[in-house]
Amino acid sequence: MADEFRPEHIIVTGGAGFIGSNFVHWVVDHQPGVHVTVLDALTYAGNRENLAGIPEDRMTFVHGDICDAALLDEIVPGADAIVHFAAESHNDNSIADPTPFVRTNVEGTYQLLEAARKHGVRFHHISTDEVYGDLALDDPARFTEETPYRPSSPYSSTKASSDMLARAWFRTYGVPVTISNCSNNYGPRQHIEKFIPRQITNILCGIRPKLYGDGLNVRDWIHTEDHSSAVWAILTRGVPGETYLIGADGERNNIDVLRAILERMGKGADDFDWVRDRPGHDRRYAIDSTKLRRELGWQPAHTDFAEGLDDTIAWYRDNEDWWRPAKEAVEARYAAQGQ
Ligand code: NAD
Ligand code: DAU
Repeated sequence: MADEFRPEHIIVTGGAGFIGSNFVHWVVDHQPGVHVTVLDALTYAGNRENLAGIPEDRMTFVHGDICDAALLDEIVPGADAIVHFAAESHNDNSIADPTPFVRTNVEGTYQLLEAARKHGVRFHHISTDEVYGDLALDDPARFTEETPYRPSSPYSSTKASSDMLARAWFRTYGVPVTISNCSNNYGPRQHIEKFIPRQITNILCGIRPKLYGDGLNVRDWIHTEDHSSAVWAILTRGVPGETYLIGADGERNNIDVLRAILERMGKGADDFDWVRDRPGHDRRYAIDSTKLRRELGWQPAHTDFAEGLDDTIAWYRDNEDWWRPAKEAVEARYAAQGQ
């Protein structure tokens, strides 16, 4: 473990998105001395409402693009660290049009790394387990920090590219970079294009849930609050130049997750439609987070998936105003793709 790094002012990119906003709320709730500047372009996935309730003296919101080097020169000096969540994050969108993924995920990360180098700021890069490709269903292996990169989709290949840039900026320029690769998050404020909120809001709208392929693909679910506490542990106690995998032993196949949602929402086990599979669909993700737990003493708090799912369903039931405006367009887009 490195000497503890105690930032007083952090820049959180993508802080109006799902995981970024949950992280900002977590920091405001758990780290009283820290001021957060959120930099977010408010794309279709960003929502200013996600930061509602945060006191003005704890957060500054900057509406802007991570590719805007001049803007970064204005806001990065004076900060102690950049925590970089901003990305185009949805695999299906990346298959339909990779263009914004290359721009935001690769060029945007490059611009932020350059700003961190120029202004002497620490950098934590948020990445994904998808950079490691996939595992077979019957393989006892899980991903570790040593697993070779083998991304499958346009999304995951741009995230892998951004990881490589972050590693190079540490080795070549000595920028104090840490990287985390996390598994699938769930929880409040996740965009309804993603699997769990799509199915919950489908049921709330009277639409049948949609399952890709044979439904046996496995994802390793972690509550987004556990992702936040892990990122804080890595930012403050992680060793520059190191990568840490974040996961909470939450492997489940898609059909089991969908049936758990159906049961909790009073529907039958077969009340869903099988739809066209995702091209290149990764079969299984699984994280071995031993390094993070042993070296930094992190542990997940939300270990009861059923309870986390109940809370998540309740959040979407209670916050229809938040998701309803996007629902029709999201479903029309999926329908056009046969999904
Ligand atoms: P999201 O799509 O919900 O939010 C992305 C945010 O980034 C939005 O607020 C959007 O407005 C902002 N953004 C996009 N392009 C931008 C740009 N050019 N400039 C500034 N802001 C921009 O994403 P998410 O699911 O919260 O994921 C956040 C991060 O976590 C991503 O880096 C993603 O790769 C990573 N990650 C996600 C998961 C998951 O399960 N969702 C798991 C592991 C890692
Ligand atoms: O593993 C981390 C990754 O998890 C993150 O890097 C990504 O940003 C995040 O979007 C997520 O990627 P996935 O592709 O795994 O998540 P998604 O919610 O899109 O899909 C989860 C699984 O559910 C996947 O196997 C595809 C399937 N699926 C998805 C949708 C939207 C369905 O069966 N039906 C659906 O309607």
